[in-house]
Amino acid sequence: MVKKIMVIGAGQMGSGIAQVFAQANYEVVLNDISEESLEKAKINIEKHLTRSVLKERLTEAEKTSTLNNLKLSTNLESASDCDFIIEAIIEDVNVKKTLFKALDEIAKASAIFASNTSSISITELAAGTKRPDQVIGMHFMNPVPVMKLVEIIRGLQTSDATYEVIKGLSDKLSKTSVEANDFPGFVANRVLMPLINEAVYAVYEGVSSIEDVDTVMKLGMNHPMGPLELADFIGLDTCLSIMEVLHEGLGDSKYRPCPLLKQYVQAGWYGKKTGKGFYDYN
Ligand code: CAA
Ligand code: NAD
Repeated sequence: MVKKIMVIGAGQMGSGIAQVFAQANYEVVLNDISEESLEKAKINIEKHLTRSVLKERLTEAEKTSTLNNLKLSTNLESASDCDFIIEAIIEDVNVKKTLFKALDEIAKASAIFASNTSSISITELAAGTKRPDQVIGMHFMNPVPVMKLVEIIRGLQTSDATYEVIKGLSDKLSKTSVEANDFPGFVANRVLMPLINEAVYAVYEGVSSIEDVDTVMKLGMNHPMGPLELADFIGLDTCLSIMEVLHEGLGDSKYRPCPLLKQYVQAGWYGKKTGKGFYDYN
């Protein structure tokens, strides 16, 4: 039974994942290598909870108990008494594999490992551990407290028992889960990311301006955000990493990342999180 959870990576996804588990009464340790990320995450979580109290979706007592359920840590050893560990660190296969290897030595033998990866092979991440049957993809959508979907991805080695635990956790969070097989990008990003990449190409080739491409998709297709605004919101570094996984993993030139997307990432323009992407946030 899952009682204590560790969330590794306190960026936009990790902080949201920690918040929803703490709100559902799990003991949560939020871990990051950066103190600054942890502090920012704590401030954001408090801000969202306060807004929910003002909107009468949450009582003051529920806000307090959520915050009491949440501990911050820069020490990976805090994983030793956790039943479930989910990582939401950068979208880089080697960094994720190194993390899972280290966790394998620290965590209880019964602990389940999940990755919130947007695109990377769960089978490959699992193969780097001594518990491949207990490794799974639990892919939340951004912003986590708002979006209803969780994509659950079984690696080749994932056991039915592990899947049932994750499906149960997703139900406890009142999320709707769908199962996807372990192909690059799964369903969500197999479909979304080529749309975003094509929008970048439309700007790169001079079809239209950034604002007009977004307006077409917002007013013409009723999308809540235009694709370029959404790319800034996700993070252009993450979008590029996902396109690279699709391109390499599926081997089809239709997935080649747009040179303009590469250039923005080279410039350090990662979108909302760095203050500049297709739009300016300063
Ligand atoms: N955390 C918690 N709550 C948040 C939030 C956050 N980060 N951001 C917004 N909200 C809440 C707001 O508090 C607000 O709720 P209340 O007014 O009821 O308090 C509600 O969401 C709506 O927010 P806003 O009024 O500020 O703005 P909005 O109406 O434009 O909605 C949005 C914001 C929900 C993000 C909406 O624009 C939207 O749905 N955008 C598309 C999001 C999307 O496509 N996400 C998937 C990205 S892809 C992905 O996640 C997978 C991947 O691997 C890359
Ligand atoms: P982010 O850049 O906001 O945060 C990443 C965090 O990970 C940072 O705080 C960083 O300090 C930390 N970190 C990096 N290496 C670490 C390590 N070895 N140990 C501990 N912490 C480490 O990224 P994000 O947008 O939250 O994305 C995180 C993961 O979630 C990625 O795998 C991404 O593909 C996936 N994801 C992102 C979105 C999105 O919309 N941004 C949606 C779904 C899934």
